[in-house]
Order: sequence, then structure tokens, then C-alpha cells
Amino acid sequence: MINLQTYTISQLALRNGQDKPQVWVAYKGIIYDVSESRLWNDGKHYEHWAGQDLTGELKDAPHTKSVFEKFEIVGKLSK
Ligand code: HEM
Repeated sequence: MINLQTYTISQLALRNGQDKPQVWVAYKGIIYDVSESRLWNDGKHYEHWAGQDLTGELKDAPHTKSVFEKFEIVGKLSK
């Protein structure tokens, strides 16, 4: 965790699958690259959008945080 690159909310916001091709999602301070997921095509996942901290929204999901396990961690969100 110590050597992870830090990104601001604004930098994360650009990786929303619209402004840039990357689809990144933050959960509990960690940023995951979900670009390879067809369930996040164009940055949209059901009613949720990438490029944000979605920590508070996981409670609306029919799944747990284990969905992040197979995705690469690209960095951490700056405080
Ligand atoms: C209305 C809310 C949501 C619905 C209905 C929903 C539904 C689903 C479904 C059906 C799957 C695939 C099956 C599974 O792994 O259980 C999935 C995967 C996933 N979800 Fe959600 N989800 C919701 C919210 C969220 C939120 C808020 C996040 C992020 C915090 C999220 C992140 C993910 C990720 C990363 C995957 C794995 C994608 C993959 O394996 O390609 N989901 N979701």
C-alpha cells in the first residue's frame, strides 16, 4: 500500500470511461481499474458511474466488496 500512486478526486473523475478510456472506481480509499469488465462498459454499472468514490454505494449492490478482488489496484485516493 505504501508505494501506491496517489490520485485526487479530480484525477479519478477523469477515469470515468467517458473523458478517458480508463474505468476506475474507488472503494475505501483504494482505486481499482475495472476497464476490462463488460459490466462497467463506458463507465456505467447499473445506476452507478465510475470515476468516483463508491464506498457509500456498495450497500445498494446485491454483492459484497469481493467483486473487486480480481481487478488491479492502480492507486489510492488522496485525503
Ligand atoms: C444497484 C446497484 C448494483 C447492482 C444491481 C449491481 C449488480 C452487479 C452484478 C449482477 C454483478 C455481477 C455478478 C456478481 O459479481 O455478483 C456485479 C459485479 C460487480 N459490481 Fe456491482 N452492482 C451494483 C452496485 C455496485 C457498486 C456500487 C459497485 C462499486 C462500489 C459495484 C462494483 C462491481 C464490480 C467491481 C463488479 C465485478 C465486475 C466484473 O466481474 O466484471 N457494483 N454487480
